[in-house]
Amino acid sequence: MKKNQQAIGVFDSGLGGLTVLKSLMSNLPQEDLVYFGDTARVPYGTKSRESIIQFSKENVSLLLEHNVKMIVVACNSSSSHALTILRQTFNIPIVGVIEPGVQKALATTKKGIIGVIATPATIGSGAYPRLIAALDKHARVVSQACPLFVPLVEEGWLDKKVTFEVAAEYLKKIKQAKADTLILGCTHYPLLKTVLRKVLGNSVKLVDSAHEVSLVVKTLLEEQGLAASAHRRAKYRFLVSDQPDHFKRQAKRFLDYDIQNVERVAW
Ligand code: DGL
Repeated sequence: MKKNQQAIGVFDSGLGGLTVLKSLMSNLPQEDLVYFGDTARVPYGTKSRESIIQFSKENVSLLLEHNVKMIVVACNSSSSHALTILRQTFNIPIVGVIEPGVQKALATTKKGIIGVIATPATIGSGAYPRLIAALDKHARVVSQACPLFVPLVEEGWLDKKVTFEVAAEYLKKIKQAKADTLILGCTHYPLLKTVLRKVLGNSVKLVDSAHEVSLVVKTLLEEQGLAASAHRRAKYRFLVSDQPDHFKRQAKRFLDYDIQNVERVAW
């Protein structure tokens, strides 16, 4: 098979990376995609750096067995702890979600005050403030871990009173700092946009890195001569490390359509 006809491999700790996959599907409709959700080991956002690095390496190895031409690390927790090590370990282009989100936030902010919300692992890594400081030494960053957001989204409580109250509590510091831009630094948070807007008001711009990532992937494929030829019908494959049924049921919330086939990988 010619290299440009090979699929792009995307991995996440579970379901959330489907927000990134959805964006890849709409911006790169000709590209085959293999998605791996590590549903047996989710969540990553509360795990140690060592575990996240080990899991992420295993996930890339698994996707390489499926003959992919590029890897997208859809998980923020993996991107923030493991991206550099993955790039050093594997000889394949690897795109993470942190830099595309940071670039967009810096292009968006007028006051130079950027809020970042993410899992405890991502916030603990310091990856977002580090990169923002490297690209703009005047920008101010206010970070907040929001560990209850992932379970609320997975429960489908996207617009409940309790979700609103939890968000109001988490976003206090960011509101006080008068951030004008908020990076949604976790795969699940784009589903909370309505609640976040209610709490912060419409003047705060929300940065959803899923869209930005797909633009970076598109550019990279073109630069490296890896883009699939246009006008072909793309194929999608869904792999998980735990029972497929739960994933299949939940996936609709993230993708807006029903997935037919989800395969469980032998680990
Ligand atoms: N995918 C994870 C992330 O973006 C969220 C879910 C988890 O904690 O594994 O950080």
